Amino acid sequence: MLEAIQLTASYVKGLPIIKDINLKAKEEQITAIIGPNGAGKSTLLKTIYGFLKPENGKVIHRGEDITGKAPYTMLTRKIGYVFQGMAIFPLMSVQENLELGAWIKREEKGWLKKALNRVYDKHEFLLKNRKKKAGDLSGGQQKILEFERVKLSEPWTLLLDEPTAGLAPKLAYEVYKEIEFLKKEGFTVILVEQNLERAISLADYVYVLELGKNKEEGNKEKFLLNLEVLIRDWLRLGSKSKD
Ligand SMILES: Nc1ncnc2c1ncn2[C@@H]1O[C@H](COP(=O)(O)OP(=O)(O)O)[C@@H](O)[C@H]1O
Ligand SMILES: [Mg+2]
Repeated sequence: MLEAIQLTASYVKGLPIIKDINLKAKEEQITAIIGPNGAGKSTLLKTIYGFLKPENGKVIHRGEDITGKAPYTMLTRKIGYVFQGMAIFPLMSVQENLELGAWIKREEKGWLKKALNRVYDKHEFLLKNRKKKAGDLSGGQQKILEFERVKLSEPWTLLLDEPTAGLAPKLAYEVYKEIEFLKKEGFTVILVEQNLERAISLADYVYVLELGKNKEEGNKEKFLLNLEVLIRDWLRLGSKSKD
């Protein structure tokens, strides 16, 4: 389990962007974080991962207190992060991108080849394009490459920040299928996602953030029933902030 307890963080001291956030992401479940633009979803992930040092509160991962630990230590702590936007190396080959993910396992001889074969067995397009520049893959394929790269570092927990942002619906659908698969593979997933309906139907448990605070939480059924109300609320909130 990954747990945030009373987590408060700011970019400018004294002006907290997230305030007293509580969240529990259980093992082998998808925990979705939803909320209007600017609610602090990305900031929460960044704080969990150590890019921002919290002013208050704790982050506990599988019993270990990782509050404020540096981001570069997170892979060895078995937490992977798929950033918003594209974070592959476009000029490197597909295979080189995957090998970077396996850097952490570089001392285990023979492991890489087997691990790469597993990836190639699963995604034929990666095998076919393994020598091509990663930047030549489609947007959805690049995202899947990124998932596979992060998985090669063998995390237990994955933080996904809007993995379908900017993707055409058909490509987004491929990425949603991958997210569903992550759960079957046994990862603990924290998913920030703009598409409410998708986020809620993928998730086991949902947190709603608003203005940097916990607004609501519950299992997916509760939110699926109230989807329309939720959307209407956010539209109202959006138009308010423009006044
Ligand atoms: N690097 C930054 N420096 C200062 N303020 C920031 C920074 N990044 C985000 N913010 C502000 O923090 C708030 C929450 O942003 P963010 O966490 O990105 O929201 P979300 O991911 O829910 O859309 C917004 O008001 C945004 O303007
Ligand atoms: Mg964001």
